[in-house]
Order: sequence, then C-alpha cells, then structure tokens
Amino acid sequence: MARETVISGPSDEDDYRPARSSFDHKDPDIDERLRPQRLADVVGQRKVVDRLQIMIDAARLRKEPLGHLLLDGPPGLGKTTFAMVLPKELGVECLITSGPLLSAPKDLLPHITNAGPGAVLFIDEIHRMSPAVEEFIYPVMEDFRVDITLGDGLNARTINMQVDPFTIIGATTRSGMLTAPLRDRFVNRLHVDFYEVDELTEIITRNARKMRVEISEEAAFELARRSRSTPRIANNLLSWVRDFATVKAKGNITKAVAEDALTMQEIDVLGLEAQHRKYLAILVKTFGGGPAGVQAIGHSVNIPVDTLEDEVEPFLLRLGLIQRTPRGRVITSDGMKHLGIVPPEKPGQATLF
Ligand SMILES: Nc1ncnc2c1ncn2[C@@H]1O[C@H](COP(=O)(O)OP(=O)(O)OP(=O)(O)O)[C@@H](O)[C@H]1O
Ligand SMILES: [Mg+2]
Repeated sequence: MARETVISGPSDEDDYRPARSSFDHKDPDIDERLRPQRLADVVGQRKVVDRLQIMIDAARLRKEPLGHLLLDGPPGLGKTTFAMVLPKELGVECLITSGPLLSAPKDLLPHITNAGPGAVLFIDEIHRMSPAVEEFIYPVMEDFRVDITLGDGLNARTINMQVDPFTIIGATTRSGMLTAPLRDRFVNRLHVDFYEVDELTEIITRNARKMRVEISEEAAFELARRSRSTPRIANNLLSWVRDFATVKAKGNITKAVAEDALTMQEIDVLGLEAQHRKYLAILVKTFGGGPAGVQAIGHSVNIPVDTLEDEVEPFLLRLGLIQRTPRGRVITSDGMKHLGIVPPEKPGQATLF
C-alpha cells in the first residue's frame, strides 16, 4: 500500500506564494478533496498520462525506481496531482518538501536518508532551492551518493554515504529558472499544459457529483468556459457557485444561477477577474497601450511581478489580449475591445468610450 509521509508541508500551506486569484474559495482543503487519486481519475493531459504510464510500467517490469521526473507548467494544472498519483500507482512511500524550505544541505538530508528504496521524494517549487542545496543534490541524483562536509577551513573533510536508489519528482512553474545542470539530471521531463473546455466540463461534472450538488450540463459548460483553461480555477468557481446556489437557488446550479454567481464575483465572459481587467486598463491609461515593462506595470497595479508573470499574464497572452515584445508588454486591439475601448489608428492614442 502506498504510504504518505509528510515531513514538511507542501507549498500550498506557506504564505510566501501570492494568492492565486483575487477571490478565494472559503475551503482551503478543496484542492486535496477534489484531487484525482489515481492515474485513471485524471481528466485530459493525454500525452502526459500516456508517457507516465509507460514510465510506471517500465519501472515495474525492471523492478527499478522510476527515473527522476521534472513536471513543469503554469499554476493549477495538475503538477502536484501527478506527483502524488505516481507513488500511489507504484505502491511506494512519498515524502514531500518544497524548494523555499531548502536553504542548506542539512534541510534536505533528512528527506534523503528517510526515503526508503524506490520511494518518491517530491520537491515542489524546485526552482527555489538554494544554490548550496542544488550542488548537494547533484551526486544524490546521479549516483545516490551523499557528500557531507564536516568542519570548515583547514579542518574540513568530506565523508561520502551511499543511499538506496529512489526517485526525485520536481515541480516548477518556472522551468526557465532552473539551471541547465539541474534540469539535465532529470531523465524524464513532462510539460503540463492548459485544458480544453470539454475537459474542464468533465472535471466540473465529476466534482459536482463528489460534492453532491446538482448542476446542469449548460451550467457546467459555462463554468468551464470561464475557468481560464485551469482545473484549480474550475474547482474554485464550482465551490463558489455551489455556495451561491445553496443560498439563492435551493442548491440547484442552472446556467442562470451560475451566471449570476460569477457576475457577483466580477468574473466576465472570458473568465477574467478584476485584476486582469485592471492590468489591461492600466496598460492603456498609464502606459498608452504599451510597450511597458512588467516591473512598471507591477508597481502601478500593485501586484508582485512574480504573480503578474505566473498568474495574470499567461492567460491574457493566451487569449491574445496582450503581447510580449522585447520592449515590454503591449495591449492588442482585442484587449482594447474587451475593455470597451476603440482601438486607435496609431499606437498610444486609445480613447475610452
Ligand atoms: N487532470 C486533472 N483532472 C482532474 N482534476 C485536476 C487535474 N489536474 C488538476 N486537477 C485539479 O486541480 C487542482 C489543482 O491542481 P494541482 O494542485 O495539481 O496544480 P499544480 O500544477 O500543482 O499548481 P501549483 O503550481 O499552483 O502548485 C487539483 O487539486 C485537482 O483537483
Ligand atoms: Mg502544486
């Protein structure tokens, strides 16, 4: 049976990460409760699932631990889900830690020595490990050798210790921030991508059943369409709409109820929240439509640059509402139309209706 040992909490419990969305569901455990437990429960991500199945089958047949695996992609798309499903499928122990908790080798050492043969050590936000830990992890990943330095200066000496082979699964929203040597030590690398509306509709329908709430097909589709291609957002919207329906509609989620609930949260037809519209509006009003540097935009909208780059901009770029140019961010004519602004003849001359 798979056993889960949590040595240090996953990143979701720490407060160093900005809120994922300007409104948050009231139940912080929702991610855990709705998280698929087995590979067969995962919706969509066919390419990732098929490749993982091959890796799992190969590891089983060879009776060897899975090769180290790096999962990358934007927030809320399933990296942690895949990382937690794998040890369950393999029937091995899973230890969990997170990059920001690893500032010195001594922070990682207990995880490595506690990992039994074939276990999985999941390192969330692996791009935030300190360089000292990164140096320390290379021989571990390559040869399962732990180099410990005792003392310092002239008295310093290194002792080596061999550990049983195990698997490191790293997750990152910023694969570009990983150094090449670290990236190269992951034999398996998988990119988790955005979801199609029909996949999100399926996730919402399944989760409504888990939450024991009635939802019509059209309502599930409407929520999916406004979920910004992201399962976590789909779950958050469902959770909010369920609360709304409980109070206003005897618990039944129809399309009209879903629309009213989303309007109350200022989530528009494209799924944009107030912070996305603020970003677009400032780009026009303060920066004449751009180009504007992300730092300057961050100061103006009062949102940390990390959050802008990870959570606000990807969807605006995906929808073609903004463009990234070497000189900065630029609003597109579709972006202006969404704000109800007449696109100018020349850049920088937009006028509000
Ligand atoms: N393929 C999927 N099928 C069904 N539900 C999913 C899927 N992927 C993600 N989810 C749901 O979305 C939630 C968020 O996913 P998860 O925590 O794995 O995202 P993440 O990529 O680790 O995000 P972050 O980068 O913010 O840590 C999960 O709890 C789960 O309920
Ligand atoms: Mg995660």
